[in-house]
Amino acid sequence: MSDRVYIFDTTLRDGEQSPGATMSENEKVRLARELEKLGVDIMEAGFPAASQGDFEAVRKIAQTVKHAQVAGLCRSMPQDIDRCWDAIKDAAHPRIHTFIATSPVHMKYKLRKSPEQVLEMAEAAVKRAASYTPNVEFSAEDASRSDWDFLVKVTETAIEAGATTINLPDTVGYAQPQEFGDMIRYVIEHAKNSHKAIFSVHCHNDLGLAVANTLSAIQAGARQAEVTISGIGERAGNAALEELVMATKTRNGYYQVETNIKTERIYPTCRLLSMIIGQPIPANKVIVGANAFAHESGIHQDGMLKNRETYEIMTPESVGREKTDIVLGKHSGRNAIKGKTSELGYSLDDDALQTVFEAVKGLADKKERIYDADIEAIILEEVYRIPD
Ligand code: KIV
Ligand code: ZN
Repeated sequence: MSDRVYIFDTTLRDGEQSPGATMSENEKVRLARELEKLGVDIMEAGFPAASQGDFEAVRKIAQTVKHAQVAGLCRSMPQDIDRCWDAIKDAAHPRIHTFIATSPVHMKYKLRKSPEQVLEMAEAAVKRAASYTPNVEFSAEDASRSDWDFLVKVTETAIEAGATTINLPDTVGYAQPQEFGDMIRYVIEHAKNSHKAIFSVHCHNDLGLAVANTLSAIQAGARQAEVTISGIGERAGNAALEELVMATKTRNGYYQVETNIKTERIYPTCRLLSMIIGQPIPANKVIVGANAFAHESGIHQDGMLKNRETYEIMTPESVGREKTDIVLGKHSGRNAIKGKTSELGYSLDDDALQTVFEAVKGLADKKERIYDADIEAIILEEVYRIPD
């Protein structure tokens, strides 16, 4: 039996902190609707105290979304928490997400507070949030650079004050997978009443380890993953939803967890985000890039034509893409060219196929990518010899 991992999408909040990814209110609402169709359990709609615009957008999303929980982020300060509640209170399932930093460097230089003061602020913040709703998430910002025993204390305090989700973020993408998993396990094992809360992680990608760290935390007992579409977010971004979800789905026997994500909605959602923020999806991007299901080498193409499982660990259809792309080029073999010509509707004999094969090879030396239109032109010119 697989355990459920809740998907908390923060594209509309942390994702929007990605340079150049600012969205208008209408765009946010459109994306929120798409996130709901995708099946996210919780969406973080924004940071209501940050600006009037953010407040309005969060309120609109809260009024629009019907099934997913809608979270608003707030610092551990009374006015932030009140503003957050004002923005989300119309939601069918509202959540207040309050946070305070717990690492020595953040407490000393950013907050200028002692650990005892931070504990007091965390307790007061969670209590205030819990006076509005029973659905309260508490985050220990920069958890991965915090003292583990202090994390245990903050966790106990937050649970006692009413938090039902405890999030331990790798705010600066500093953690390593094994170490991060150990930290999560340590807090779950040592914090009193840890069974009363769902443990969550929120990993940044500064060392390219956001998804690996999230997976390691899941193995250690975390049951909520904070992610963004295409991994957009502050600096190098956050753990990418599509990577995390497809890793747990493709290797379900290994992780033994499942999510509620309708994976066929992944590609349409990534495309919508890309259009909204005006940033194209890079060709080599995992799962959603143009090359993710494209096969160029003759050996791979031949294998794929015999059995897709030779070089595909998931199908393009399972993530909402049309089909595998057999890219014809100088590495392609006869089999791939035969497959492409019949896909285009031509039935060529061996001689004709040899002619097309040689023409494609010749063209591939001059042109980076051979398109279907090129193949058709070759067939018409070399096989049917259409005169000018
Ligand atoms: O990266 C981080 O620590 C955050 C928190 C506010 C959850 O975004
Ligand atoms: Zn973050």
